[in-house]
Amino acid sequence: MDLQTYRERSLRIWDEMAPGWEDRREWILGITGAINEWLAGQVDPQPGQSILDVAAGTGDLGFIAAERVGADGKVLCTDFSPEMLEAARRNGERRGLSNVEYRVLDAERMDLDDNSVDGVLCRWGYMLMADPAAALRETRRVLRDGSTLAFAVWQTPDRNPWAAIPAMTLVQRGHMPPPEPGAPGIFAMGLADRIVELVTGAGFGEPRLEELTFEWRYAADGLWDTLTRIAGPLATVINGLPDEEQRATRAAIEESLAQYRRDGEFIVPAACWGVTA
Ligand SMILES: C[S@@+](CC[C@H](N)C(=O)[O-])C[C@H]1O[C@@H](n2cnc3c(N)ncnc32)[C@H](O)[C@@H]1O
Repeated sequence: MDLQTYRERSLRIWDEMAPGWEDRREWILGITGAINEWLAGQVDPQPGQSILDVAAGTGDLGFIAAERVGADGKVLCTDFSPEMLEAARRNGERRGLSNVEYRVLDAERMDLDDNSVDGVLCRWGYMLMADPAAALRETRRVLRDGSTLAFAVWQTPDRNPWAAIPAMTLVQRGHMPPPEPGAPGIFAMGLADRIVELVTGAGFGEPRLEELTFEWRYAADGLWDTLTRIAGPLATVINGLPDEEQRATRAAIEESLAQYRRDGEFIVPAACWGVTA
């Protein structure tokens, strides 16, 4: 797929996923909140600073920064999906945050001034972008010298059966091609060397990588619903299948995940790289 087609498709997919992410926001936050805390801790937002959250989804990572920068500071909550950004806005308004600006922004071409922010946060965004090198160069351009970028990306498929097993099942059943090497996608920045290459190539110094692990916990009867409402490109492929094939695919995925089933739940390992530059 050429990169422009990928971009258009990705935007459509994430707009479609926004209601699922909004409905499951608290569940996602409950399981993955420690990753957000780690990232915010690396940037260490100070009162009065201006912090950018890239590919912010429903906004919770940036909102930690919003609480720390205070009334004199600002968080720019951004995503290329208008639907995600509206979900973030509703979330921020519910929390009564008045120092957050919401802006539709494609990370590959940021409509922001050079040297205009004091820190950048991004969880699970860069590896999905058509040109992550461009997005990281843009990040470096808008970040003030001496400031910090902290981001998380997924490690390799073997460390992330929660996504690798459904993806492999869809490939095996002929519903999508195997990922092309170097193509954007959930595991595109799984290898430490690739991260170092991209980050230093964008003009940052040598990044620091830390392994961040956790477990997704799905109620056994909720796994499928969750998968089909939040899992980005995988969800879109599944949702496009005829009903009968959806049922067969569901059975195959649940069977492959059976080793992680305990007491009415699927408890499935997940591993990211926490990267600071
Ligand atoms: C897996 S979700 C993560 C959302 C949020 N950061 C979180 O961790 O909860 C990926 C997000 O990246 C956004 N995204 C993908 N490509 C993007 C791009 N080129 N520019 C900005 N946002 C992008 C999607 O719209 C989606 O909200």
